[in-house]
Amino acid sequence: MDQRTPVFLLLTFVPFLVLANNQTSVEDVTGLRSLKDQWTNTPPSWGSTPDPCEDGWDGIGCTNARVITLTLPSMNLTGTLSGDIQQLSELQKLDLSYNKGLTGPLPQEIGSLKNLSQLILMGCKFSGPIPPTIGSLQELVVLSLNSNRFSGTIPSSIGKISKLYLLDLAENKLEGPIPVSGGGEPGLDMLSQCKHFHLGMNKLSGPIPSKLFSSNMSLIHVVFESNNLNGSIPSSLGVVQSLEVVRFDNNMLSGHVPVNLNNLTSVSQLFLSNNKLSGPAPNLTGMNFLHYVDLSNNSFDVSDVPPWFSTLESLTTLMMENTQLRGEIPSALFSLPNLQTVVLRNNKLNGTLDIGTGDTSQLDLIDLEQNLISAYDGRYNGTLLLMKNPICNKSGASRIYCKISKSSDVIPSYNTTSNNCVPSPCTSNQVSSPNCKCAYPYEGTLIFTAPSFSDLKNSTRYKELEKNLTDFFLSKQLADSVSLSNLTKDSLSYLRLSLEIFPHGQDRFTRKEVSSIASQLGTHIYQPPEYFEPFYFMGGYYQHFADVPLESKKSSNVGIIVGAAAGGSVLVLIFLLIKVYAIRQKRRAKGAADQNNPFVKWDVDKGSGSIPQLKGVISFSFKELLKYSNNFSEGNDVGSGGYGKVYRGTLPTGQLVAIKRAHKESIQGRHQFKTEIELLSRVHHKNLVSLVGFCFDRGEEMLVYEYVANGTLKDSLSGQSGIRLDWKRRLKIALGAARGLAYLHELCDPPIIHRDIKSTNILLDNRLTAKVSDFGLSKSMDDNGRDHLSTQVKGTMGYLDPEYYMTQRLTEKSDVYAFGVVMLELLTARRPIEQGKYIVRGVRMAMDKTKDLYNLQQLLDPAIGLGMAVRGLERFVDLAMMCVEEEVANRPTMSEMVKEIETIMHLAGLNPNVESASSSASYEMSSSKDPYTNDAFDYSGVFPASKIDSQ
Ligand SMILES: *[C@@H]1O[C@H](CO)[C@@H](O)[C@H](O)[C@H]1NC(C)=O
Ligand SMILES: *[C@@H]1O[C@H](CO)[C@@H](O)[C@H](O)[C@H]1NC(C)=O
Ligand SMILES: *[C@@H]1O[C@H](CO)[C@@H](O)[C@H](O)[C@H]1NC(C)=O
Ligand SMILES: *[C@@H]1O[C@H](CO)[C@@H](O)[C@H](O)[C@H]1NC(C)=O
Ligand SMILES: *[C@@H]1O[C@H](CO)[C@@H](O)[C@H](O)[C@H]1NC(C)=O
Repeated sequence: MDQRTPVFLLLTFVPFLVLANNQTSVEDVTGLRSLKDQWTNTPPSWGSTPDPCEDGWDGIGCTNARVITLTLPSMNLTGTLSGDIQQLSELQKLDLSYNKGLTGPLPQEIGSLKNLSQLILMGCKFSGPIPPTIGSLQELVVLSLNSNRFSGTIPSSIGKISKLYLLDLAENKLEGPIPVSGGGEPGLDMLSQCKHFHLGMNKLSGPIPSKLFSSNMSLIHVVFESNNLNGSIPSSLGVVQSLEVVRFDNNMLSGHVPVNLNNLTSVSQLFLSNNKLSGPAPNLTGMNFLHYVDLSNNSFDVSDVPPWFSTLESLTTLMMENTQLRGEIPSALFSLPNLQTVVLRNNKLNGTLDIGTGDTSQLDLIDLEQNLISAYDGRYNGTLLLMKNPICNKSGASRIYCKISKSSDVIPSYNTTSNNCVPSPCTSNQVSSPNCKCAYPYEGTLIFTAPSFSDLKNSTRYKELEKNLTDFFLSKQLADSVSLSNLTKDSLSYLRLSLEIFPHGQDRFTRKEVSSIASQLGTHIYQPPEYFEPFYFMGGYYQHFADVPLESKKSSNVGIIVGAAAGGSVLVLIFLLIKVYAIRQKRRAKGAADQNNPFVKWDVDKGSGSIPQLKGVISFSFKELLKYSNNFSEGNDVGSGGYGKVYRGTLPTGQLVAIKRAHKESIQGRHQFKTEIELLSRVHHKNLVSLVGFCFDRGEEMLVYEYVANGTLKDSLSGQSGIRLDWKRRLKIALGAARGLAYLHELCDPPIIHRDIKSTNILLDNRLTAKVSDFGLSKSMDDNGRDHLSTQVKGTMGYLDPEYYMTQRLTEKSDVYAFGVVMLELLTARRPIEQGKYIVRGVRMAMDKTKDLYNLQQLLDPAIGLGMAVRGLERFVDLAMMCVEEEVANRPTMSEMVKEIETIMHLAGLNPNVESASSSASYEMSSSKDPYTNDAFDYSGVFPASKIDSQ
């Protein structure tokens, strides 16, 4: 049969095909119809086309004609969720969040959705008990039922959901005890994979069971605030070393705080306030990662100011109102480098208030009302409250610090400003975006439930959040800009910020876009800068959907076809052919990668040897890249190097890319170029910039890479990018880059030597994950057993291994040398050769191992934040100096480097493997097995490491 025939037939008979072959299983169609009957405000596509999967109903995602995702957040759905949901038996994700019109109980039939991995119903008005059948959801990873009206007790069967990662039941009306296993019943203590217990703002009662905690648990957030829990804090808590955020405040807990609490050295936020805790004030010595501590309003014994007041170097906020403290406040407290707020009201602190001579510019508030302070050294410039102290009885009564009271309730305001443009006057309900375009934004609130900071005036944080959000949604082509406003802090210390997200392109969002945005914020696919964790998002309704007009492809021809159907068996055969063809067509349409088959474009007839062996890499034509980069316009020019220029481009899929376009002089031979892309296409690691495609067309050679949002490490070190790199972040960057290089050296086959490691070749993504880039000069080792390559020396001055320079023998150890130089840059933020001085020599000469910080204070970058925040620095210096040893054999291998940097991270109070909520690393999904990849609209999202075990 002629190739063309099926095309012709297809055009004619499509309508019949669709009617005769409803793709979606009858079971699912019935289930969805039933849901639709019980809800108002379902998307217009529901029901106006016959087939949910085939016609792409909004909010439905399918695989093999089965509905696997149902995602309808912020749609103003009203009604109840009926047991007919069980018809959708292949469902993996159910997200109905932010629909306050959804009421009534969660049906027990939910338990029959055996494949469900995400159940997300936050911000609705579901009520009644949580059905115990929920325990049969063996695949469940995310259970978010927060902010509803669920009542009754927490079903113990939840303990059987062994894969559960996030349990969020906060802000409901749940009562009774926290269930633990025993007497044949399961309990929450069995959830050893779970990282988040969010049970705050309920009416839970009884003690916190001792059995709940054990060293098997991998919890990072235990947030139980604002319940009616009583009894004492179990000492078993002290063995859960992964913990980072503990909130037990606003309960009725009594008894002594367990003495092993300070075993929890990763805890950053600790809230025990407003309980009835007694005994000695807690000993927090050694909790060197603590940022925010609130122990206020408890019944501790009268005790002297504890020694840890002067030693917790990460401390931003110390709240110990009404805790029976006595004695003098050590002036060392005020010298803590990160301290922002001290509230010690209503204690028995006496003597002289001595601020000391340290830098207190970051310290916003010292509140010492109602104490016994009789003198003050007068050295503090911020807000000081001393009312109701002896110092204010005497002649000092007229001093300003004796007159003002409790100013801490004044919340500074923050509003996103326009990006160098004049806000447009907009009609009716439209809002002018930060880019001054009138549009209908999607609105909601970001809620930060355990802030790690208290300097609310400091707008750099909100700016960083704004940039992070913008980059995230821009990179997914979901938004044009975002705006933050209405900062508030409530009595539980939750911070709230209103968020407006402005549409990209048009003036309004489609349903798919709102679903996607709400879902990424709601399920934490989006992660804010680390100091904003933990958070959740509460979306509003969107009222201005752009309902894309439905295609009219299934319209008129039915009659003709039905008539034709009389034609009998010939037709059957034709239909079979059409079906085969249709399936083929569908497969073809699947990915741009397939359409852009490199095997086709690589013109073999020019005698360049075989077709490149490429995995998942796209071959672009010159014309395409011209279009995607806006004609290689200057505005898209993001950098250059010896080889040529780099342009930013946007693929039709919305993905941002960096296009590296070789100069005429650096064009390599066809064979060499082919070898290079073959090599690059095999390299996949989250710490390496990955190759998206290439262009070998019209005498041009271009490599197309993923776009990495935050630019080069050098830009950040030089202060150009505006990103603050403290010690922790520098360690994470060093580790990431080291892991990337170790992969090139030790896991690639054949191994790859980078040959040009430098701070401009280490890029940072929007979570500050380091990505090694530019393998343009890479050479793979040949596999004939030679362990070095003799080639013309290439590389960058300042990073060049002297051994390689002299002998021209290239080994992996030359990369190690250059990496050592990068480590010195991380320490000093200086260029390798600055004013004729070589950094390696400079550090070697200044170094004195007998002195504190090896006597390198003068050379270190002040932005690191000196103090305890730099624990492990000496070891880091040692490691860098080992890398730059003249003798190649004395330099470590990259995998040894990775191990040592991990050890240093432990010293600094960081866990390199549990990439936690308060870390800034991201995790690129490579496997599609994870439940998070089932989001109907986000195939290529960046997934938070904190949601997935990344080993
Ligand atoms: C296909 O679905 C449509 C609408 O949902 C329905 O009217 C039709 O009867 C179905 N056809 C078959 C063959 O199931
Ligand atoms: C939500 O839906 C209800 C009922 O359909 C309607 O009365 C209400 O106006 C809608 N609200 C918004 C904000 O669209
Ligand atoms: C401290 O934590 C470790 C690690 O879980 C545990 O083995 C040890 O028993 C804990 N120490 C105390 C005193 O609880
Ligand atoms: C506090 O804890 C530290 C570290 O565990 C310990 O060395 C110290 O003795 C404790 N202090 C008191 C007063 O118990
Ligand atoms: C402060 O209080 C402590 C303990 O109550 C006491 O020993 C000390 O003498 C007092 N100091 C002054 C200067 O009053």
